Amino acid sequence: LWLIYLPWHFPLHKDITIQGASEKAENSDKILLYQVGDFFEVFNDDAKTVAEMLASAEETEPEDKETALELIEKLKQENKTIGLLPTMGALHQGHLSLAKRAKEENDVLICSVFVNPIQFNNKEDLEKYPRDLETDIKLLESINCDVVFAPSAEEVYAEEPTEKYTFGALEEVLEGPQRPGHFNGVATIVHKLFNWSKADKAYFGEKDYQQVFLIEQMVKTLNFPVQIVRCPIIREESGLALSSRNAYLSEEERQNALSIYKGLLAAKAAFAKGERSETKLRNLVIQ
Ligand code: PAF
Repeated sequence: LWLIYLPWHFPLHKDITIQGASEKAENSDKILLYQVGDFFEVFNDDAKTVAEMLASAEETEPEDKETALELIEKLKQENKTIGLLPTMGALHQGHLSLAKRAKEENDVLICSVFVNPIQFNNKEDLEKYPRDLETDIKLLESINCDVVFAPSAEEVYAEEPTEKYTFGALEEVLEGPQRPGHFNGVATIVHKLFNWSKADKAYFGEKDYQQVFLIEQMVKTLNFPVQIVRCPIIREESGLALSSRNAYLSEEERQNALSIYKGLLAAKAAFAKGERSETKLRNLVIQ
């Protein structure tokens, strides 16, 4: 699947230019064109439709050819504050709670939607990761998100990354040993997103506590001029934390997943009542 965003990241609620689309069309299996919030799906074997769409889009090509990068530069010059919400899409209410907060706390909200291949160390996980950009865009529009970055992997990694991010002793704990390359993959894309967006604040959910922690470390160590905002976990009524990957779970697995939260709550309640035995508290969690 090839996504064409011209400019490749585009402001919502604004016309986009489609200059250069025809060259890319020739090399694509499948093309998605966005225009003023409309969603068109065009297949390569239907060359006539592609040609017609490009022709009609050219006719309506807007005067304003500002790209998102130019827009961001302009916003910075106007001293507008920028909030960034990095996501891998398949958005749910958890993401939207972060987006709403970012929107409230900044003049402009930029949301990135990018399934970052280099943070997956399992090919199957990457391939089956849920993707539904059309719905994501509708959800983001519903909360008046200003800009969506939705680049393709070819664009993001046109140049092979040369930096490697390491997190010292943290590499040996948390998920470090089980997911080699994961921390580096997250740090690489988050660094790129900070650079592109020039965000004043970036929003991360505490659902992935490890990730927020690593990013805070990175920001501190490398002195990034961005404030990391931690946002609380949003749960289903059952107590299960909302996650795009919940879509993979069977009913039985959902119940199993829920037992982690139930166990933690049981330990918390016992601790509040004065229990201080580490073994007893641990057993309450893993029972
Ligand atoms: O939490 C996620 O969805 C991803 O790890 C992030 C931060 C967008 C980087 O790809």
